Amino acid sequence: MPDTLTIKDNRTGKTYDVKITDDTIKATDLRQIKVHDEDFGMMTYDPAFMNTASCRSSITFIDGDKGILEYRGIPIEQLAEKSTYLETAYLLLNGTLPNKAQLDEWKNEITMHTILNVNLQALIDSFRYDAHPMGRLISTMAALGTFYPEAKNIFDPVCRQKQIVRIIAKIITIAGFNYRRSIGMPYSYPDNDLSYPGNFLNMMFKMTESKYKVSPALERALDILFILHADHEQNCSTSTMRVVGSSQADPYSSVAGAATALYGPLHGGANEAVIHMLNEIGSTRNIPAYIEKVKAGEGKLMGFGHRVYKNYDPRARIIKRAAYDVFEVTGKNPLLDIALELEKIALEDDYFVKRKLYPNVDFYSGLIYQALDIPMEMFTVMFAIPRVSGWLAQWQEMLNDPDQKISRPRQIYTGARKLDYVPIGKR
Ligand code: ACO
Repeated sequence: MPDTLTIKDNRTGKTYDVKITDDTIKATDLRQIKVHDEDFGMMTYDPAFMNTASCRSSITFIDGDKGILEYRGIPIEQLAEKSTYLETAYLLLNGTLPNKAQLDEWKNEITMHTILNVNLQALIDSFRYDAHPMGRLISTMAALGTFYPEAKNIFDPVCRQKQIVRIIAKIITIAGFNYRRSIGMPYSYPDNDLSYPGNFLNMMFKMTESKYKVSPALERALDILFILHADHEQNCSTSTMRVVGSSQADPYSSVAGAATALYGPLHGGANEAVIHMLNEIGSTRNIPAYIEKVKAGEGKLMGFGHRVYKNYDPRARIIKRAAYDVFEVTGKNPLLDIALELEKIALEDDYFVKRKLYPNVDFYSGLIYQALDIPMEMFTVMFAIPRVSGWLAQWQEMLNDPDQKISRPRQIYTGARKLDYVPIGKR
């Protein structure tokens, strides 16, 4: 059977054979379909990219119907149980797990690059005390790039690797310093003896003790959350990273752009929105009424639903389990009972069942962040920290992909044409 699609244009009676590769046709192959020779040719109309593959990628595999997520072919459940965030970041960026020497070198590189140029602190100092942490992160990341003008050499693999190390290393310092500044505390500097998540906690919470002591259970829970958030193929922020990067911008600017996309409440902002929602519900007694409101179209159940997953998000299952380990140390988050009951009722309700709406990664992650004393406005920052490794892996893959060019969608123009300019006195 030939791997082609035969299309008949009933406007002209002509038929066209279009090649099928990987169950996909090339949108540009449709351009030959025309009524008149001078026509532009057929396009596809796909707002929100519901059914358009924008790249070939070997980084992350998702089967949304079965609830499967794999990084470089390895199931997320195995990585969450056995790996660390930094090892997972290496896997995403390089394609395979590192051997011992490679992992040691990678961890050492990241640890050695956590310091920020002291001039950047002036920028952090200049934010108002109540500036949103995502606005701070986005601006500080963009500003960080100005310290490394060589970063524009994006096709030099050695230079590129240096920026990748810097971004992954320094994002925890940027997040920690901005938090300290917002609460009027002196900066807590990175400590090379600590792990990546431990160092982040140290830069957030160290007080007057000479050495910050990390709770192993909390450090591990945070590392698991970082692993689960590291990549998720062509989501809104990753696509933004690729689009901005396709203009050959430097990686700091591209990461700042991707972080901006993550900021929105329908994407990385949802974990914060979940806590607001659980607070608003206030008690398990109020859940049925809240669900009725959602079903009547008054708002959404935050942390539920996903463009790709039409089954339980595998990350939500792992996070739910990790939450119990954290609560053993910190005491139970009182919002947990509301979340559990809300999930139970929603999963039995016809509205949610019919639409295949299940808890997503954000439904339980906020409860853990809250137990770790991370302020609510910082939840999206907690998502951005590990996601930079995914953004950078996808960006690097794009730069090496000969199929890719500057991103530039088409439009269907619906406005007026050929009007005359009317002088202001005659309008
Ligand atoms: N609560 C109630 N109804 C919902 C929800 C929800 N959380 N999500 C989707 N629906 C309904 C829609 O109203 C729609 O109903 P209809 O067919 O009667 O019109 C149907 O389910 C399909 O939903 P869409 O909005 O078309 O799905 P889409 O793929 O565009 O949106 C999204 C996905 C944005 C994640 C959506 O489910 C949502 O807004 N969820 C809440 C926000 C959230 O948790 N975001 C985090 C996503 S995960 C991440 O970014 C890490």
